[in-house]
Amino acid sequence: DRDRPLRGARLVVSAGPTREALDPVRFISNRSSGKMGYALAAAAARAGAQVTLVSGPVALPTPPGLERIDVETAADMHAAVMALMGEADIYIGAAAVADYRPSEIAPVKLKKGRGASVIALTQNPDIVADVAALKPKPFVVGFAAETDDLENYARGKLIAKNLDMIAANWIGREDGGFDSDRNALQVYWPGGAASLAMTEKSALAEQLITLIAEHFHAKNST
Ligand code: C5P
Repeated sequence: DRDRPLRGARLVVSAGPTREALDPVRFISNRSSGKMGYALAAAAARAGAQVTLVSGPVALPTPPGLERIDVETAADMHAAVMALMGEADIYIGAAAVADYRPSEIAPVKLKKGRGASVIALTQNPDIVADVAALKPKPFVVGFAAETDDLENYARGKLIAKNLDMIAANWIGREDGGFDSDRNALQVYWPGGAASLAMTEKSALAEQLITLIAEHFHAKNST
């Protein structure tokens, strides 16, 4: 089925940033818009997959034909994703998960003092690594955004996190990346690579979904 290469596959995508609260009005987060993850979820649904989109706080409409679960923190996203993994064939970790959260969430608004202040941070769980450590595990795709040495860092994460594929993009170069409508990707898997040229995220998502479908089927037929 060439038009619907993921027909029947159960696919979970995480997208967007997470928010880590400091107090009832403040949080730590990042510049992720969720556009790449949403484009992948939409492309996967068009490719025939049964898609669940686990989304951090973003300002995007839900693409047609999929289920969306909204979360706020990395801990919430971890719990929501892990709860879906018993019935998933493919996991795409496109979320920009906060690596750290404030060690304590103040129950009331923090008041300013007279000088400098320090926030103690605790490390968050690595969602994509925890998914890839499951036995049996789904086909796992991670992302990497790098400012330097793209292939080395991306391949390092592919191996360290036991991923089946990683999609890497440069940040801080021309357009593309966080919050842009366009992006380019270097895709790596054990023993191979592909280069997807700068284009609209919707077109890029379609190309990446085609690549994921090929490798997913190749893995399942060996
Ligand atoms: O190590 P780094 O954060 O660069 O790896 C990026 C990949 O790991 C992305 O796929 C991201 O969604 C995932 N990740 C995660 N949980 C974290 C941090 C990153 O799933 N706590």
